[in-house]
Amino acid sequence: MVFSQENFEKLSEYIYRKSGIHLEYTKHYEKLRKQVTKRSESEGFDSFRKYFYTLRFEDQAGAEFEELINAVTVNETYFYRENHQFEILINELLPMINQTKRANEPIRILCAPCSTGEEPYSVALHLLEDDGIVNERDFEIFGIDIDSNVIEKAKKGLYSDRSIHALSPAIKRKYFNKKMGYNELDPDIREAITFSKANVFDKQEMNALGKFDVIFSRNMLIYFDDASKKEVAMNFYNMLNPEGFIMLGHAEYMNRIVTVFKPIQFNKHIIYQK
Ligand SMILES: C[S@@+](CC[C@H](N)C(=O)[O-])C[C@H]1O[C@@H](n2cnc3c(N)ncnc32)[C@H](O)[C@@H]1O
Repeated sequence: MVFSQENFEKLSEYIYRKSGIHLEYTKHYEKLRKQVTKRSESEGFDSFRKYFYTLRFEDQAGAEFEELINAVTVNETYFYRENHQFEILINELLPMINQTKRANEPIRILCAPCSTGEEPYSVALHLLEDDGIVNERDFEIFGIDIDSNVIEKAKKGLYSDRSIHALSPAIKRKYFNKKMGYNELDPDIREAITFSKANVFDKQEMNALGKFDVIFSRNMLIYFDDASKKEVAMNFYNMLNPEGFIMLGHAEYMNRIVTVFKPIQFNKHIIYQK
């Protein structure tokens, strides 16, 4: 099937409008061509026009778009990635949040995006390893991602050796069991996290998650253009409780996107506060 540069531009513009993900012809043409060809062969579309028509007008349940998004996302992640941020969470942010929160209110933490789950599970492992606030408060940890495949993997909690390479042997032994060549995370920890498929641009889906004290949004904004970054940053702003915190990936800078957050420095690392 023919998949021209013009076809690529049309499809990538559609993906951008619906997900904020910006694709470039030189880098992503082959990925989209393969996906369109695969779906056309299995569904019997004889042209790009037929595929694109189905995607836009006949995909009521969103299954075709879901397949497409799952094929283009970059899901790279691992346990304890940029670990200093989890340490700042435990040592600096949680004590501050704990002081200002009413008794009996849970501390709510969101990982948006969470990919295959390593990030929210890293938060849970740090909480379990800390002997302080976790004994005084309830915690609610959520992980969301636009890619339904990674959400299913996150729920299963089966990880490769590469995925847990940054963990100490003691943590590996304590929380993982070998299973069919994978490292299976303790089921109690898996059950403690709420995972769901959601798009950070979808205000309804975001509002339904409720308000948070801390949002991790690491290594996703780099794939968006300026307008999309702004829109998502303001969605996060509205989802944070007053004085809530947001942490970005090391190559992401909130003050280049919006100026509504106050930057706070902890040992050379910048966290943003509402
Ligand atoms: C590189 S992973 C980052 C995972 C983790 N936060 C980390 O830093 O290790 C980027 C994730 O962003 C997700 N993503 C991209 N666009 C999204 C959107 N509009 N809404 C929610 N998730 C999105 C992708 O599916 C992918 O799993």
